[in-house]
Amino acid sequence: MGSYELALNNGKLFFNNSFIDANIAVLDGRIAEIKKVEIQDAEQIIDCKGKLILPGIIDAHVHFRVPGNEKKEDWVSGSKAALHGGVTTVLDMPNNNPAITTADLLEQKRKLVEKDSLINYGFHFGVSNGNSRELKNARNIASFKLYLGSTTGNLLVNDDSALEKCFEIASLKSKMIAVHAEDEKIILQNAKKFQNESNAKVHNKIRTVEAELEAIKKAISFAKQFKTRLHICHVSSKESLFLIQEAKKSGLHISCEATPTYLFFDESDVGKKGCLLKVNPSIKTEKDRKALWFGLNTSQFDIIATDHAPHLLEEKQQDYWKVPSGIPGIETSLSLMLDASEKRLIQLEKVIKLMTENPAALFKIKNKGKIEKGYDADLVVVDLKKEFVVKNDELFSKSAWTPFEGLKLKGKVEKTLVKGSLLFDNGDIIINKNKESKANLEVGYYG
Ligand code: NCD
Ligand code: ZN
Repeated sequence: MGSYELALNNGKLFFNNSFIDANIAVLDGRIAEIKKVEIQDAEQIIDCKGKLILPGIIDAHVHFRVPGNEKKEDWVSGSKAALHGGVTTVLDMPNNNPAITTADLLEQKRKLVEKDSLINYGFHFGVSNGNSRELKNARNIASFKLYLGSTTGNLLVNDDSALEKCFEIASLKSKMIAVHAEDEKIILQNAKKFQNESNAKVHNKIRTVEAELEAIKKAISFAKQFKTRLHICHVSSKESLFLIQEAKKSGLHISCEATPTYLFFDESDVGKKGCLLKVNPSIKTEKDRKALWFGLNTSQFDIIATDHAPHLLEEKQQDYWKVPSGIPGIETSLSLMLDASEKRLIQLEKVIKLMTENPAALFKIKNKGKIEKGYDADLVVVDLKKEFVVKNDELFSKSAWTPFEGLKLKGKVEKTLVKGSLLFDNGDIIINKNKESKANLEVGYYG
C-alpha cells in the first residue's frame, strides 16, 4: 500500500506556462505533490515516459441532449466521447427538450446528469422571452445562455424588454451572458428570399456575416447599458472578431470563443461535404477562416470550445431545409489543435491555455484548468508524436460521425483521468466498478 492513490511518473508536465520533467502524486482525487524525484509509494503507478501531461480539457460549449434528445447523445455516450477527446469538464447548453429555462427544470436535469456522468460538468441556463424570475432563482450555473437567432431547440429571445431584464439581472447577479449571435430578422428575411434553393451553400446566404454582426452589436449595446459581462460564442467571421476587439478596447468586459469548425473549414468545404457542415453560425469564407487563426494567435480569443452538437447521420443526409444544424466535435478538438501546433499554425502553449486555464478562469471554475498542487487531478496524457487517422467507427458519441473522418492527425490522446481516476486508456473506456463512485462531479464556481 502506498501513501498516494496514484502516481504519474516521468512525463513532461505543462506547469506554469511551460513544460517540465516531473512526477505527479494524487491523493483524494487531487494533485498532492509535483516532484522532481520519481514517486514509488502509490497504489497505482503510470509511466508517462515520452508523453505530455496536460490539465484535462475544459469544453465550455457542448450539447449532450439530456433531457429530450437522448437518441442523438445521452450523458453516458457524451461522457465517453469527452474522455476520448481528453475533455474532463463540460459546460452543457440549455437547448434541451424541454429547454432549461426554469430553476425546477435545471434541478431535474441535474439529477439526470448526476447519476450518469463520468466527467465533471456544469450548466448554462437558458434565457426565454418571459423567464426573468427564473433567472434570479437559478443556482450554480456557468452563464445565462441567450439565443438571438433561432437554432436547434426552441430558445429564442426576440423581445427587447425581456432582453433588458436579462441583462439587468445578469449584471446584478454578476453572471455572464453567453450569446449565440445571429440576428433572427435577417435570418428570416434571407430564408424567404432563398426559399427555392436547396444546396447546402445557401446556408451562408441566409446566416450571413451581417446577421452575426447585427446580433453582436445588439448584445454589446445592452451590455454597455447594464454593465453586464458578455461572452460571444462560436465567432465565425473576421468582422465579428474585430467588433468584439473594439468593444474590449472601449472597456467592455467581453470575451469570445473560437470553435474548431470555423478554424478548419470554410465555404469551399461546404461545397464538398454538403449539409454535414450545416451549422449555426454558418461557415464563412477563407478570408474569415484565416482571420480567425490570426485572432487566435494574437490573443483575441479567450477560449476554444467545441459546440459539440451531435445529430444522427441520417438526419444530416436529408434535404437542406430538413437538416438540423450542428456538428459533433468533442472527440477531435484536442488532436486537431495539437496537430495544428505541430504544423506551426499556433504555439502549443497557447493551445493548452485556450483549452484549460482560460475557460476555468473565464467561467470561474474552482480548482481546475492547471496542474498545480491542490488542484483536481483532471489530467490528459498525450503522445505528440503519434500519428493516426480519424475514423467514424472509433467514436463514442451516439452521433457516430465526424466531418474530419479520414483526416491524418499528429498528436493523440492516450489517457484521460478525472479526479485521479483513469477512465480512458489507449482507445478504451475504463469503468472501475470496485472503486466507490466519486463524490460530486458538478463543478463549483468562485466569486
Ligand atoms: C447547436 C445544436 O445542435 O444544439 N447547433 C449548431 O448549429 N451550433 C445549437 C447552437 O449552438 O446553435
Ligand atoms: Zn450556438
